[in-house]
Amino acid sequence: MKPFDNRPIGIFDSGLGGLTVAAALQHKLPGEAVAYLGDTARVPYGDKSVDAIIHFAHQDVEFMLSRGVKLVIAACNTVSAVALDSLKRDYSDQIILGVIDSGVRAVIDSGAERVAVIGTRATVNSDAYRRGIHAANCSIRVESIACPLLVPLAEEGVTSGPIVPAVFDLYLAKLRQDPPDALLLGCTHYPLFIEALNDYFSGKVQILDSATACARYTAEFLCEHHIAAHPGNTPSFGCFVTDLPSEFHRHATRFLGRAPGRVERINLA
Ligand code: DGL
Repeated sequence: MKPFDNRPIGIFDSGLGGLTVAAALQHKLPGEAVAYLGDTARVPYGDKSVDAIIHFAHQDVEFMLSRGVKLVIAACNTVSAVALDSLKRDYSDQIILGVIDSGVRAVIDSGAERVAVIGTRATVNSDAYRRGIHAANCSIRVESIACPLLVPLAEEGVTSGPIVPAVFDLYLAKLRQDPPDALLLGCTHYPLFIEALNDYFSGKVQILDSATACARYTAEFLCEHHIAAHPGNTPSFGCFVTDLPSEFHRHATRFLGRAPGRVERINLA
């Protein structure tokens, strides 16, 4: 049995949002190297057809594997909700993790009896979170709400100020009147709105973030499978994008909490 594995963890997303997963992962596992792919030329995935999302996800995984990663995390909730079964079937000799299971675990661990899940249209239409939560505990009341405008707002850096609660009102006004016990952020972009959501719900709703939950789950997975990096490993962080690196660079710090370093443009086709 190999006690350590210093190969990078591959994390991919439709764009910038998965950097919230990369940030949570590197905070929890500072010795792990990361190869990050953002399919910035085709973001958003959340409004695309199931067929298109599956097709893109396969290309993303192919690229990640070409970088010699030890496992691949589909950090995109949309991909995890719609394409994970297909990826696991077609790459059965590889380790592919999604974010839905960890989000579900965060809900179960929270003890919430009523939870609202927010995400992209594709994630909400897939019903993946409700199915996962009910497989673990069918007495939890789950409602799922698509909040498509939050992705472009996060990408534009508009995460506070008067527009934000106005957009929340479009989707969450009813929920605000009758708050659930917990709100699960089922989209990689939404952790940027944690403060604004706390204000919107006057701190009355427990906010669960699938990015942090995914980092916790991955840490356990690496330990259990004896594939964690050596504690003395000096980790690298490589970023790959399918469109302008300068644009990615400009916005990445808000998602990652620091500058991303070198960003390389690649072609997935
Ligand atoms: N990364 C996507 C997700 O977590 C949000 C952006 C998109 O629609 O592609 O669902």
